[in-house]
Amino acid sequence: MELIDGKKIADAIKQEIAAEVAQMVAAGGKKPHLAAVLVGHDGGSETYVAHKVKACEQCGFNSTVVRFEDNVTEEELLATIEKLNNDTDIDGFIVQLPLPKHIDEQKIIEAIDYRKDVDGFHPVNVGRMSIGLPCFVSATPQGIMELLKRYEINTKGADCVVLGRSNIVGKPVASLMMQKAMPGDATVTVCHSRTKDIKEYCRRADIIIAALGSPGFVTEDMVKDGVVIIDVGTTRVPSKETKSGFRLKGDVDFEHVAPKCSYITPVPGGVGPMTIVSLMKNTLLAAQHKIYK
Ligand code: GUN
Repeated sequence: MELIDGKKIADAIKQEIAAEVAQMVAAGGKKPHLAAVLVGHDGGSETYVAHKVKACEQCGFNSTVVRFEDNVTEEELLATIEKLNNDTDIDGFIVQLPLPKHIDEQKIIEAIDYRKDVDGFHPVNVGRMSIGLPCFVSATPQGIMELLKRYEINTKGADCVVLGRSNIVGKPVASLMMQKAMPGDATVTVCHSRTKDIKEYCRRADIIIAALGSPGFVTEDMVKDGVVIIDVGTTRVPSKETKSGFRLKGDVDFEHVAPKCSYITPVPGGVGPMTIVSLMKNTLLAAQHKIYK
């Protein structure tokens, strides 16, 4: 069993990005600038945005966080998005999800100029990705593909089971895994809460990408020997051993499943750091106008 070290790879990519930014600045260019809109005080969202700001510093980017209380109106958010769309100093921005119930999340995503949509959530980017055109590929699926690539995991013709059908992970990663590309060329099955016998699909799989948000869902009896597992789950569970009082738990029962795997990502330190670094990559591409002129 080999552990897929997302943190090590993410650190190396951040150094590559920082070197490229230093060159841009030395040539008289400006630093890439990422903005994040953060609504409310959800612990997970606060942590994610703090990690994104820190990654910006490490990559030599400027960052701006625009904060709102939970009672912000949809109009106020739309006005902020309009401002960010028109701000020539901002290369890309994200609206951290989830948003409060009274806000129409899809309306917010569609208000973002797709040329600044470094999360890759806008329908233009989702559509372009699904037919293999240049676009901002959303961060988590992009990070997963990068891990498979850097570890030279053979995906061609592999039976890949994706657990979860979210717009952020399940659907896009399924689409990328089936594309004519390397990594890609897999035979993909997407399982979800209405799938009749998830266990049966998982047992056949060469690669399992678990993105359910259900801690410890994938158990030893569900996987075959030599399987490759990418665990996207990051559920906060109570813990007496940490200062914060919680720890992150993946969708896989790591302790019992890992010995059967050829490769597996740990939680934390697997997919998470790759997600953040993929957002940095997208922001760099936006600043360089490499996807859209
Ligand atoms: N919430 C959970 N993951 C993400 C992400 O990748 N981007 C944004 N904007 N919100 C999220």
